[in-house]
Amino acid sequence: MNLLPATADLAEAMAVAHAQAFEGAWDRAAFEEVLAAPEVFGFVALGQDPAGLVICRAVADEAEVLTIAVAPASRRRGVARALMAAALDRIRLCAAREVFLEVDAANVAAIGLYDSLGFKRVGVRKGYYDRGAAGRADALLMRLDLEPKAL
Ligand SMILES: CC(C)(COP(=O)(O)OP(=O)(O)OC[C@H]1O[C@@H](n2cnc3c(N)ncnc32)[C@H](O)[C@@H]1OP(=O)(O)O)[C@@H](O)C(=O)NCCC(=O)NCCS
Repeated sequence: MNLLPATADLAEAMAVAHAQAFEGAWDRAAFEEVLAAPEVFGFVALGQDPAGLVICRAVADEAEVLTIAVAPASRRRGVARALMAAALDRIRLCAAREVFLEVDAANVAAIGLYDSLGFKRVGVRKGYYDRGAAGRADALLMRLDLEPKAL
């Protein structure tokens, strides 16, 4: 498994992995568009097939995980943990000292990942996600406080 910086030439690979993880996934154009912003960066895990990706944004002293996804065939092998480690290392190089994300309150896998990385629950957005026929789902807002990396 290779971890590569998320660049526009990998937009199709990212879209393939994202489509296996989310309904309403980002397509190639959406990845190209978001990565065009200078404050956006991420990583892609590539094996024989695109395995996963993480996309983040850092502005001033705050960073945000915009999306993270791992294709089902590659789950529970530490891919998301490796993607988050790379992202957090990159964020530590910026001025950011806090990392925020939103996650569906029922997403046991993602919350387990974020808990294990030290993210804390700092808020709830009631009915934030529209799940169509399944109704609306709450979002948890989570935050990780970062220590500057020792040089
Ligand atoms: C959430 C997701 C990214 C995890 O990817 P992954 O590569 O399988 O995760 P990892 O193997 O790196 O697991 C890291 C830790 O996350 C937690 N975790 C992962 N999957 C879990 C599950 N199904 N149930 C409970 N905890 C889980 C565990 O703490 C795990 O550590 P462990 O394996 O040592 O127990 C993946 O399930 C996914 O893409 N889901 C769909 C998209 C999504 O929900 N994205 C997040 C939106 S906020």
